[in-house]
Amino acid sequence: AELNIQPDSQALATAAADFIAEQVRANPDLSILVATGNTPMPTYAELARRVRAGELEMNRVVAVQLDEYLGVAEDDPRSLWSWMLRSFVEPLGIRRTVKLEDPRTFEAAIAALGGLDLAILGLGPNGHLGFNEPPSPADAPTRVLELTPESLASNAAYWGELPVPRQAITAGMDIILAARKTLLLVSGAHKRAVLRSALEDGPTPDLPASLLRRTPLTVVADEAAWV
Ligand code: F6R
Repeated sequence: AELNIQPDSQALATAAADFIAEQVRANPDLSILVATGNTPMPTYAELARRVRAGELEMNRVVAVQLDEYLGVAEDDPRSLWSWMLRSFVEPLGIRRTVKLEDPRTFEAAIAALGGLDLAILGLGPNGHLGFNEPPSPADAPTRVLELTPESLASNAAYWGELPVPRQAITAGMDIILAARKTLLLVSGAHKRAVLRSALEDGPTPDLPASLLRRTPLTVVADEAAWV
């Protein structure tokens, strides 16, 4: 894995945006698996700034949804699809998307794209990727599952008073690990132990993020999460 440590979360965003912009310049039709959550938001904001400034074009990119809660409508404030539209698709002028609703349809759509070029991922406090909760082996498919207590707790921070749905659908480990490049973004001291473990232990299904080490992985982290 290539490890890129930045002084703070804003520098992380600049470095991650540089990486993504470089991929898009090399292939304007890049298909990207897009995480929501807190960590990538400054990166998406930096990409949006570059698009607005005319420094970058992303309108030919295909944005592919990584995960979703079960039984949450598009107009529900907790919809991860809507979060992806708001934070990534709309500000970057992206016109092609793949929504994750049904595992079969989703897998067929990715096959039709010829696979994913890039997966942008955050790191769960329990080492999950998307909602691939531990244990998730490398061949875990796109599926519906129950969220673990740790993920319910970390996701609660997003929604204030609203409860976190207990079930979710996630792009499988098979799809994530087959991406031609993977980018893992990690910010904050609360991620330090799990990041070190993901890079040094296993690789093991008990820490799904550790399985990323068999992919062309770039980790961009801030010093709080690493030093
Ligand atoms: C979000 C997602 C999750 C988050 C992870 C880290 O679409 O798939 O796996 O990336 O839980 O979340 P943050 O970035 O909020 O710490």
